Amino acid sequence: MLVLGIETSCDETAVSVVEDGRRIRSDIIASQADLHAHFGGIVPELASRHHLEAMLPVLERSLAEAEVAWQDIDLLAVTAGPGLAGALLVGVNSARALSFAWDVPLLGVNHLEAHVYANWLDSSTEHAGPAALPAVCLIVSGAHSDLAVMGEDGSFQRLGRTLDDAAGEAFDKVARLLGLGFPGGPAIQRAAAELGAGAAPESLPRAWLEGDHNFSFSGLKTEMLKRTRGRTLSPQDVRTLSAGFQESVADVLSAKTARAAQSLNARTVLLSGGVAANSRLRALLAERSPAPLRVPPIPLCTDNAAMVGAAGFHRWQAGDRSDLALEIDPGLPLGVRPAISRLHAVEQPNPNR
Ligand code: KG4
Ligand code: ZN
Repeated sequence: MLVLGIETSCDETAVSVVEDGRRIRSDIIASQADLHAHFGGIVPELASRHHLEAMLPVLERSLAEAEVAWQDIDLLAVTAGPGLAGALLVGVNSARALSFAWDVPLLGVNHLEAHVYANWLDSSTEHAGPAALPAVCLIVSGAHSDLAVMGEDGSFQRLGRTLDDAAGEAFDKVARLLGLGFPGGPAIQRAAAELGAGAAPESLPRAWLEGDHNFSFSGLKTEMLKRTRGRTLSPQDVRTLSAGFQESVADVLSAKTARAAQSLNARTVLLSGGVAANSRLRALLAERSPAPLRVPPIPLCTDNAAMVGAAGFHRWQAGDRSDLALEIDPGLPLGVRPAISRLHAVEQPNPNR
């Protein structure tokens, strides 16, 4: 089964062709990162305009690279939320138009669940295909930090989340404090890696929030502000502060994920989302995880359409359906499927009929 995946929830316009939810035939991503870097963050209006311009060329390249014609596509899977409203609209409306024009079924996908399904793709690990469930999932991106359990039926139940900033957002804001570029995660990781083996990372606090599965990064961010305000930072200061910050975030995320996996007897631990690209987080979680750990390769951690194609395939197999009335849902939480919520709405009798 060939699924065409479409992703436009933030600043990447991406279209993939994925075979049987595992094999990536193509995954074309037009990133707007350079454009938004100029403003130090994402400008929603610019993002939608660029999605609009990029959509057709990216779609054409994706089909060409996969060496398939549109007639070969069996299902269209598109991110319906969460994300920026204007950005999601371009993806969902493109998918609706294609579904109508090609007469191919359409399925709305939850972006957070799609991040987890990146771990099902063949190139992800040696053990691709469905992971052993139940799994404890840490989804850490620019807008979300969720700890969840994925049950044997594929349902997601959130265990905890960030009470303030998302982990990626904290990386981005702290990078700005340190005069590093956007996106901040890779910049902080690079600066931390430049700290010589002989030098110690800055010692920074950790918000453990004992007794639950939630996270908090605002205290750490304030501490970073206190330690940098009014100072002229030398390149070495930036390295020690970056390494200390990265250590604090990776320590808490990995320890709390490992603890949740232990207490729930998880059969797998699944890391995903843009921050899953962080090498220190990957290393610490690999060390601490009580169950086999799956981590997508770096290009499949940040936003892409292959994960949407994989999620679309598996959710379709599980019985999820959408129709041309699919709508965006910018605030869609983990565990809620756009397909299912929309189906309920469509099933309502029309009082004017
Ligand atoms: O999943 P994603 O591409 O987009 C959202 O859905 O939000 O995640 C983007 C986030 C950004 O905040 C970025 O700084 C962070 O992922 N990120 C990283 C790394 N690479 C990307 N954070 C830490 N270390 C990295 N290597
Ligand atoms: Zn994402």
